[in-house]
This record gives sequence, structure tokens and C-alpha cells, in this order.
Amino acid sequence: METAVICTGVTKWFGEGDARVQALRGLDLEIGMGELAMLVGPSGCGKTTLISIIAGLLDATEGGVEVLGTSPSQLTPGQQILFRRRNLGFVFQQFNLLPTLNAAENVAVPLFIAGFPRRPAIEQASELLNELGLGDHLSHLPSQLSGGQQQRVAIARALIHNPRLVVCDEPTSALDAKTGHKVMELFANIAIRPDRALIVVTHDSRIFDFADVITHMEDGKAVGEERKRINGKAAFSGMMAGSMSESLAERTI
Ligand SMILES: Nc1ncnc2c1ncn2[C@@H]1O[C@H](COP(=O)(O)OP(=O)(O)OP(=O)(O)O)[C@@H](O)[C@H]1O
Ligand SMILES: [Mg+2]
Repeated sequence: METAVICTGVTKWFGEGDARVQALRGLDLEIGMGELAMLVGPSGCGKTTLISIIAGLLDATEGGVEVLGTSPSQLTPGQQILFRRRNLGFVFQQFNLLPTLNAAENVAVPLFIAGFPRRPAIEQASELLNELGLGDHLSHLPSQLSGGQQQRVAIARALIHNPRLVVCDEPTSALDAKTGHKVMELFANIAIRPDRALIVVTHDSRIFDFADVITHMEDGKAVGEERKRINGKAAFSGMMAGSMSESLAERTI
């Protein structure tokens, strides 16, 4: 299996002097192409920091990160921006929608940046929003949308340009079970493709069954991996989301 992401001994420090905080402590992680990988772990264990480094939004203090066969730290800042625009989609924990653009325009932003003319960009964005149940809210501003609606706009914006790697921070946190399921089906359909991969940070146990692999993080490190599927086939017969911590314990203790 080709690898989408390789992290080797990644550390991250924030702040200076007495206020220094170590968010990642020598983290190793490998995610294959065609995989839907989930990252789980307690609040503050470094999940957002890690995916921000993978997405090139933050630099690691030490360690190696390879994304889609490229080491972003070896690119110039300009090349990094181009690499990110072409290859990555990011769903932020706080959505980060542009407040003065309506839903369809927010989703179309990556297409505008890629040089698409306005009309086809808005049409494509509207189609995707329709698929996510927001066909009646295309011209609403973010402030006129509920949390769950804003979250779906953020998800559509991350997917609209067909990125090879999609990185999502808690993408179903504001969604009801049915809508969350629909979003995960959309993600799973993308991850089936051998040239695509998704990383989903989540606390939402309702969606664990969509994962090919679940990595557990604690205190800035990856402490265990639960492989649920290999090449689309169940890795262990009878594996259920509920048995996760038991089998994790078997392999990590
Ligand atoms: N910009 C920053 N400046 C200083 N400290 C930070 C910064 N970002 C994160 N941290 C610290 O790094 C640690 C990891 O934070 P991070 O946001 O990665 O956790 P998380 O696992 O995503 O948590 P949550 O589940 O609550 O979103 C925490 O101790 C946090 O306070
Ligand atoms: Mg976080």
C-alpha cells in the first residue's frame, strides 16, 4: 500500500520560557493511501496540533513529516502553499468560514483560488451543498446558519477541489446521527479510491465503524492502533466498535 502520510518522531513545542508547552512528544504515525484513518484521544493530547502539522499549517519543532510523497519542510513557502491548495482539504474544529461570503461562495473558495470562473464554481459548490442537505441555504451567510449547517459548509469546502488528502477536525461534532452518517458515507466513498486518504479526528463513537484504522493518542504520542480493515476487508472477524479499548489494551500493555 502506498503511504499518504508518514510522521517520524514528531515533536512540537508551543510558547517560550515558563509558558512552554510540549504538545507532541516524538510521535510516529503512518497512514496508507485509500484509507480512512481516525485519530482519537483525550482533550489536549495533541490531535489538532498533529493534523495541523500534517496539513502544513504548523511546523514541527523536530521530526519528519512526509505527505503524499513530499516533505513539505523542504519546499519553499510559495511551493508549500501551492502544494496545500492542490492536494489538501482541511475541516477546522471551529469551521473558519468567511463571514461575508454566503454558503455557496464559501464552498467555492478553493475553486476561485484555482482559477475557476465564478458561475461553474458556484454551480459545483451548490451541487455538493445540495448533496449535504443544504440546497435551501446556498445564499445564507455563516451567521445565518446553525452550527451543524456551518459544519457541513466547512466539509463541502474541504472536498470541493477533490483533494488527495482530506484532514478533518471533529467533522461530526455538531451533526445529528443521520447527518453525521451521511457525511461519513461521503468520506468513505472518497477513501475507497487508492489515490485518496482521509484523516478524521473525532470523539464521536457513532462513526468509529467507518474507520479503516483508528490511532489512539495520549499525551502527545500515538499509543496504539486499531486496524479494522485492510484493503476494504475486515481485519478481524467480529470486530465491533465497542471492543476497541479491550483489543487496544491487548496490544499496548
Ligand atoms: N497555539 C498554541 N499555543 C500554546 N499552546 C498550544 C497551542 N495550541 C495547542 N496548545 C497546547 O498543546 C496541547 C495540545 O493541544 P491540541 O489543540 O493539539 O489538543 P487536542 O487533542 O486537539 O484537544 P481537543 O480534543 O480539546 O481539541 C494542549 O496542551 C494545548 O494547550
Ligand atoms: Mg483539537
